[in-house]
Amino acid sequence: MPKKTFSSPLKRAIYSGRRNRYVPHLQFFSKAFQGILYNQIWEDPEIDLAALKLEESSKVLAISSGGCNGLNYLTKCPEKVSLVDIQQDHLHIARIRAVAARAAPTYQHLFDFMAVGKGVQNIQFYQQHIAPHLSEEEKHYWQSPMQQLWKRYKHRIDIFEKGFYPASKAALVARMIFPLLGIKRSRVREFLKFSDTKEQTIYFDAIILPKILKRWRHLLFKLPALCAFLGVHPNQIKILQDETNLSLKDLFIERVRQTLTDTPCYRNYFAWQILLAQYNLDCQEALPLYLQEKNFDLIKQQLNHQKLDHSYGSIVKKVADSHPGDYNRFVLLDAQEWMSKEDITALWQDIIRVGGPGARIIFRTGTLKSYLADQLPTHLMEKLYYHEEQSRTLFKKDRLKVYGGFHCYEVRG
Ligand SMILES: C[S@@+](CC[C@H](N)C(=O)[O-])C[C@H]1O[C@@H](n2cnc3c(N)ncnc32)[C@H](O)[C@@H]1O
Repeated sequence: MPKKTFSSPLKRAIYSGRRNRYVPHLQFFSKAFQGILYNQIWEDPEIDLAALKLEESSKVLAISSGGCNGLNYLTKCPEKVSLVDIQQDHLHIARIRAVAARAAPTYQHLFDFMAVGKGVQNIQFYQQHIAPHLSEEEKHYWQSPMQQLWKRYKHRIDIFEKGFYPASKAALVARMIFPLLGIKRSRVREFLKFSDTKEQTIYFDAIILPKILKRWRHLLFKLPALCAFLGVHPNQIKILQDETNLSLKDLFIERVRQTLTDTPCYRNYFAWQILLAQYNLDCQEALPLYLQEKNFDLIKQQLNHQKLDHSYGSIVKKVADSHPGDYNRFVLLDAQEWMSKEDITALWQDIIRVGGPGARIIFRTGTLKSYLADQLPTHLMEKLYYHEEQSRTLFKKDRLKVYGGFHCYEVRG
């Protein structure tokens, strides 16, 4: 059967040269992957930073998603951070986040806007300090109406008054799951204050797990459809099913359990966002690095030095269009699981050409295995060193266990 070709980078990445028999699943995913799906990135920056080893001469190219990690990386003062994405809504979020961090006259302004993400003062902050730094297209985006599943906003920017974090599609869907499982918000809040993983494990196994198991049949959704709304590409589901012996339901339970019990909850902002669609505002350490008061002036200074830029398009094309030395750190998120073997080969060939010896590349996968060796020809694999042990050690500390593995490679000298 002929392969489809698409003019939009988003559709091209979603279909990634796949044949027509996959089209119904991909069409559903393509519809679900529109609008504000994520309003923060779902990758632990502490793990990324430990693997990337950023220095003053580091030039990072990363897939943006919600753009928080681009800002988090700036706390290490690299030479530059370039964010790229094929999804315009995510780029708008990434950009307003950066403008807010740069334009906030006081830490309280940034805290209210991006940490609390709620309150009428955020609209005043937008009008006075953010809008003057946006392009006409960006202002049009934020000031247009928005329909988000069953919620309607007169102006998109109103989400910062009504609640920015609960407004993403993923949060709207995730927040339906827990009441359906019969877990009360007050109980969740009590659980999320724990700082001892043993206590968390006992609580999870005694209180939360039985409810999940008992109420499972009441879930309104079939998991694959739910996964599409949470941004999991159909190809990722296929990889999970092919490479693990567990059903999707058992995998879901296992990963929720690990996320909620492997690291202390009080500072696991992913757990807070999954369960309550908010941050733990009582504790600075529980916020992403770019939202911590101690980093406020530093991030502003880095942004004033024009160290962060955003662009629309595929990372495959971005690296192909780059010259040797343009970048030496690459953050691929889990996007390779969307890609065809041809795209993965082209991407790594260009990463090796552009990054040169010593360049570091990180990515996450749905299962423990880095299946890179199955994808790349031997002559490219020989140019790479896999920091396998370090990757596994770091992944154990990852606060978010929705992925199965974290991987760091280095281009050999
Ligand atoms: C791969 S998705 C999955 C979830 C991800 N871990 C996160 O936190 O956002 C993340 C982002 O990657 C973007 N993306 C996927 N393939 C891409 C590509 N080839 N080039 C650039 N961005 C891509 C999506 O648009 C989305 O914003």
